Order: sequence, then structure tokens, then C-alpha cells
Amino acid sequence: MSIRRIFFSLLWFTALSADAGYAQDIYTIHYPPDRIIKEYGPVGISFSVKEGTADKVVVRVNNEIIIEFRIIAKVNCYSVHLEPGKNTIEFAAFKNNALINIVTRDVFLRTDLIGAYRKWPPDYRRDSFHSEKKELCAECHQLEPTEADRRPVNITTLATGGPNDEKSRNTSTCYSCHKGIMSFQFVHGPAAVWSCLSCHEEYSKPRYTVAKPDTEVCFKCHLDQKQLWLNKKYKHGPVTLGKCTICHSPHAARNAFNLHKRTWDLCVNCHIEMGSGRHVLGDSFSKEGHPTKERDDPLRKGRELTCASCHDSHASDYPHLWAFDVENRFEFCQKCHQKKMN
Ligand code: HEC
Ligand code: HEC
Ligand code: HEC
Ligand code: HEC
Ligand code: HEC
Ligand code: HEC
Ligand code: HEC
Ligand code: HEC
Repeated sequence: MSIRRIFFSLLWFTALSADAGYAQDIYTIHYPPDRIIKEYGPVGISFSVKEGTADKVVVRVNNEIIIEFRIIAKVNCYSVHLEPGKNTIEFAAFKNNALINIVTRDVFLRTDLIGAYRKWPPDYRRDSFHSEKKELCAECHQLEPTEADRRPVNITTLATGGPNDEKSRNTSTCYSCHKGIMSFQFVHGPAAVWSCLSCHEEYSKPRYTVAKPDTEVCFKCHLDQKQLWLNKKYKHGPVTLGKCTICHSPHAARNAFNLHKRTWDLCVNCHIEMGSGRHVLGDSFSKEGHPTKERDDPLRKGRELTCASCHDSHASDYPHLWAFDVENRFEFCQKCHQKKMN
């Protein structure tokens, strides 16, 4: 659609969206219901309009146009990405370019990483899409899982060709509705091969829950890490609580290691006092502090210095979760500063 048309649509929105009363109720929004809570990723949308009423439906999320349906099918589907906190999804119907109806749905994206969005407003609730029969959806989508959705995942060889490969997608029954969940650069092994049921329980109530705490799921495959970390003297706070997904997405993310944020931002998210980019390393170092970012990591070629250059995010045998096998602070500094300090 041209910029001019976008501009005019926006005018319509601003002119008319304040007007709540429309002559006729033309929509059936199959999904989402109003005021639900989500934890991750995109939310599927699905709607129908009464035949002969609208010839175009524009979907906006938080005032930004996401998609325009020009040919309105019996059932229209898409999925939209959300921002942390409250999101408003707006369905605006047009007939001959005149706005004839708007309905909205509010969806709250909850996250442990932002204090204000840890809890949701009182009138929101969790929805369990798969706990009810979805006859309408089943007219076009395969809703019952098949063997492909349960394909075993080998930690070293993965089950199929590679990340998010075509064969896995084509055989997954989850893909047709949930493809948006994987639309990020860094994808997690089992999700990348669409082995969704390697973590989601097929017969749980509500359906498709995941065992808690996260370590119950993660350590089923990450046996090496389990062995390594649980035997260490010191464990990182969130790891002690078994909360792996506070930092890692189980599906896919914008950042390496499927982290919800870049490592440095992730760490200072909770360790706010470390947010200056400098870190005072006890009394043996200047008051100004040691850099913690925007330098090359001398030990990890091609990577930036970050909190994880010196600390292990999971566990360590050394106080302060030092990332190296060292006996004391001097050896610690020498890991990177051998020449300078000799
Ligand atoms: C008339 C057929 C039809 C019906 C009925 C239907 N869908 Fe779809 N849906 C489709 C088609 C076609 C696609 C696109 C599939 C693809 O690209 O793989 C789709 C895709 C989707 C997507 C993914 C869209 C995206 O772009 O990420 C979601 C979510 C979805 N449907 C949800 C639903 C839900 C929920 C229902 C039941 C309320 C439903 N659908 C009923 C035909 C239908
Ligand atoms: C007809 C489309 C459709 C298919 C097929 C589908 N889902 Fe969903 N699923 C949805 C929608 C819509 C939601 C609710 C919101 C969202 O996440 O988009 C949902 C929600 C979920 C949830 C969150 C809990 C819940 O019930 O709300 C899980 C977990 C899930 N799906 C897993 C799966 C798995 C695993 C498969 C394949 C075995 C699958 N889905 C197949 C449409 C579908
Ligand atoms: C490594 C384990 C793992 C795999 C593999 C996995 N998931 Fe999940 N998924 C989780 C966890 C953990 C949650 C969060 C559940 C919770 O907190 O209750 C989750 C949540 C979800 C949700 C709900 C998100 C929300 O916003 O509330 C959907 C939808 C979902 N998964 C779909 C899928 C699909 C589709 C696949 C296959 C591509 C898949 N998952 C593979 C672990 C996994
Ligand atoms: C069904 C097996 C399975 C489960 C369960 C599982 N993983 Fe994985 N995980 C894998 C595979 C396979 C890889 C890819 C290994 C590779 O590419 O070297 C992987 C890789 C990873 C990586 C490294 C990504 C990278 O870029 O190097 C992280 C981080 C990770 N998983 C975290 C988790 C977390 C957190 C959980 C629990 C929510 C979990 N995993 C559960 C199989 C699993
Ligand atoms: C505080 C945030 C945080 C928590 C909690 C966390 N991780 Fe990590 N994880 C990271 C970071 C950061 C990296 C990348 C480290 C690096 O840059 O070397 C990582 C790397 C990984 C890797 C890949 C490389 C490796 O070290 O083996 C796996 C697998 C992994 N984490 C699994 C888990 C599991 C399982 C849990 C729960 C027991 C967990 N993580 C909890 C932050 C976290
Ligand atoms: C979700 C919040 C959260 C995130 C994210 C987080 N931490 Fe922590 N961290 C904690 C908690 C809670 C403790 C335990 C506090 C305590 O024991 O005093 C802790 C403790 C630590 C300690 C040990 C302090 C000591 O004196 O022994 C270090 C070091 C540390 N974190 C580094 C990191 C690094 C590096 C990252 C990023 C990879 C990170 N943290 C991300 C919550 C977090
Ligand atoms: C150059 C290595 C290095 C980097 C980079 C680094 N740290 Fe540290 N960190 C240390 C050392 C060494 C100590 C122990 C200081 C002491 O003994 O006083 C420490 C101590 C800590 C402690 C516990 C003591 C305290 O002051 O509360 C936390 C928490 C911590 N670091 C978090 C972080 C976070 C978050 C980052 C990234 C923003 C980071 N560190 C980056 C080396 C580093
Ligand atoms: C993981 C590697 C690493 C470790 C461990 C480490 N440093 Fe550094 N250090 C760096 C990097 C990278 C720089 C930045 C160098 C540059 O800008 O060229 C730096 C810079 C410095 C500087 C120059 C200060 C400045 O503002 O640029 C001093 C002094 C220093 N480190 C001392 C220490 C001491 C003392 C320790 C032990 C407590 C230590 N470092 C541990 C990587 C490390």
C-alpha cells in the first residue's frame, strides 16, 4: 500500500476510533480473547467478518499497521509480535475505503526482566487455547499432533538436517499456526527442528504445559551442563531457583545463546549497580573501575568483553562466580593481562 494510502488510513483511525458505537456488529474475533496474558513470542490472530459487510480489514498493534487484509476470507489468520506490557490489537474494517467498524483486543506480555511487567493488571487472565476443542480451526489446520512433533532430539546430532529446516517445518503440525515463534536469528536446537513435544507435555491439563522449574526440562538434554554446574561450589541466584528461561528463550531470540537480551544488558538488568560500564574490582583496582564492555575480549576471539568474560552465568568453584580455574585474584587478572603484569 502506498504511503499516501497509509496516511489516509491513519486519518480515518484518528478521526473515528474515538467513536465506540458502530451501527452493526460485523466481527467474530476467534482469537485472541480480550485481556489475556502471554509469556513469549507472537500471538496468533484469527477473525471472520459477516459476508458483504467489509472489503478490507487493517490490523494495527499499538497504533502501528501490521497487515491489511484486502480479500477477506471466511477465516483470516496471522500472528503479531508484542512488546512487554500491555498491547492493543486493533481490527479496523473498511467498506469502499470508509471505516465502518473497529474492535480491539488487549494482550499483556509478561516478563520477569522488567519490574513493571512482572505482574499483570487485575482484570487479565491466562488463556489456554489448546484445552478446548477447536472445531473451526480444525477445518483447515491439523490440530492433533503427529509423530513428527515428538521426534527425538539428540543433543549432539540434532534429529534432522539443521536449524529450522524445511523438512521439519513441513512435517510439524504446530508450524502452520506457530511459525512466528521461530522468526528470530538464534534458534534453540529442539525448537529449530520443530520437536515441540520434546518439552511440551501432550496430555497435561491444561494441555501442552512444561514441567517446572525449568531445570526439570532443560537438564533432560543438557546432561553435561547438569553434571558440571550442580557439582560446583557456587551457583548463580536464578540457576539455584531453576529459572533458566529468565535469561534464555526456549524457542528463539534476537541474541546469541537465545538470550532475551544481549549478555551485558541482561546482567545489568538485575545487577543495576553494574550499569555504568565500569566495575570496581575490589581494592586492588582504581576507583574508576575496570571496563566491562566495548572492548575486545582477549580470551574469546571475535567477541566483545562482557560480564560473561569474567563471570560464569551458571556456576563456579570460585567466589563471585569467576569464569576461570584460578586460585587467586592475581592469577585471575593474569588470564588476560599476562604481558602487562609480568
Ligand atoms: C478457512 C481455512 C482456515 C481456518 C478455518 C483457520 N485457518 Fe488459520 N490459517 C489458514 C491458512 C491458509 C494459514 C496460512 C498457513 C501457512 O502459511 O502455512 C493459516 C495460518 C494461521 C496462523 C499463522 C499465521 C501466521 O502468519 O503466523 C494462525 C495463528 C492461525 N492460522 C490460527 C487459526 C485459528 C486459531 C483458527 C481457528 C479459530 C484458524 N486459524 C482457522 C487457514 C485457516
Ligand atoms: C490452529 C492453529 C494452531 C495449531 C495447529 C497449534 N496451535 Fe498452539 N496455539 C494456537 C493459538 C492461537 C494459541 C494461543 C496464543 C498464541 O500463542 O498464539 C496457541 C497456544 C499454544 C500454547 C500456549 C498454551 C495454550 O494452550 O494457550 C502452546 C504451548 C502451544 N500452543 C503449543 C502447540 C503445539 C506444541 C502445537 C503442535 C503440536 C500447536 N500448539 C499447534 C494455535 C495453534
Ligand atoms: C526446550 C523446551 C521447549 C521447546 C522445544 C519448545 N518449547 Fe514452547 N515453551 C517452553 C517453555 C519453558 C515455555 C514457558 C511455559 C511457561 O512458562 O509456563 C513455553 C511456552 C510456549 C508457548 C506459550 C507462550 C506464551 O506466550 O505464553 C507457546 C505458544 C509455545 N511454547 C509453543 C512452542 C512450539 C510451537 C514449539 C515447537 C517449535 C515449542 N514451543 C517448543 C519450552 C519449550
Ligand atoms: C530435547 C532436548 C533439549 C532440551 C529439553 C533443551 N535443550 Fe537446549 N539444546 C538442545 C540442542 C540439541 C541444542 C543445540 C546444540 C548445538 O547446537 O550444539 C541446544 C542448545 C542450547 C543452548 C546453546 C545455544 C547456542 O547458541 O550455543 C542453550 C543456551 C540451551 N540449549 C538452553 C536450553 C534451556 C534453557 C533449556 C530448558 C528450557 C533447554 N536448552 C532444553 C537440546 C535441548
Ligand atoms: C542469568 C542468566 C542466565 C541463566 C539464569 C541461565 N543462563 Fe545459560 N547462559 C547465559 C549466558 C550469558 C550464556 C552465554 C555465556 C557466554 O557468553 O559464554 C549462557 C550459555 C548457556 C549454554 C551454552 C554454553 C554453555 O555454557 O554450556 C547453555 C547450554 C545454557 N546456558 C543453559 C542454561 C540452563 C540449562 C540454565 C538453567 C539451569 C541456564 N542456562 C540459566 C545466561 C544464563
Ligand atoms: C534475573 C536476575 C539476574 C540476572 C539476569 C543476573 N543475575 Fe547475577 N545474581 C542474581 C541474584 C538473585 C544473585 C544472588 C545474590 C546474592 O546471593 O547475593 C546473583 C549473584 C551474582 C553474582 C555473585 C555475587 C557474589 O558476590 O557472589 C555474580 C558474579 C553475578 N550474579 C553475575 C551475573 C552475571 C555475569 C549476569 C549476566 C550473565 C547476571 N548475574 C545476571 C540475579 C541475576
Ligand atoms: C574484567 C573482569 C570482570 C568483568 C568484565 C566483570 N566482572 Fe564482576 N567481578 C570481577 C571480579 C574480579 C570480582 C570480585 C571483586 C572483589 O573481590 O571485590 C567481581 C565481582 C562481581 C560481583 C559481586 C561483588 C559485588 O561488587 O557486588 C557481581 C555481582 C559482579 N561482579 C557482576 C558483574 C556484572 C553484572 C558485570 C557486567 C556488567 C561484571 N561483573 C563484569 C570481575 C569482572
Ligand atoms: C577477561 C579478560 C580480562 C580480565 C580477567 C581482566 N581484564 Fe583488565 N582489561 C581487559 C580488557 C579487554 C581491557 C581493555 C583493554 C584496552 O582497552 O585495550 C582491560 C583493561 C584493564 C586496565 C586498563 C584500564 C582501562 O581503563 O582501560 C587495567 C588497569 C586492568 N584491565 C586491570 C585488571 C585487573 C587488576 C584485573 C584483575 C582483577 C583484570 N584487569 C582482569 C580484560 C580483562
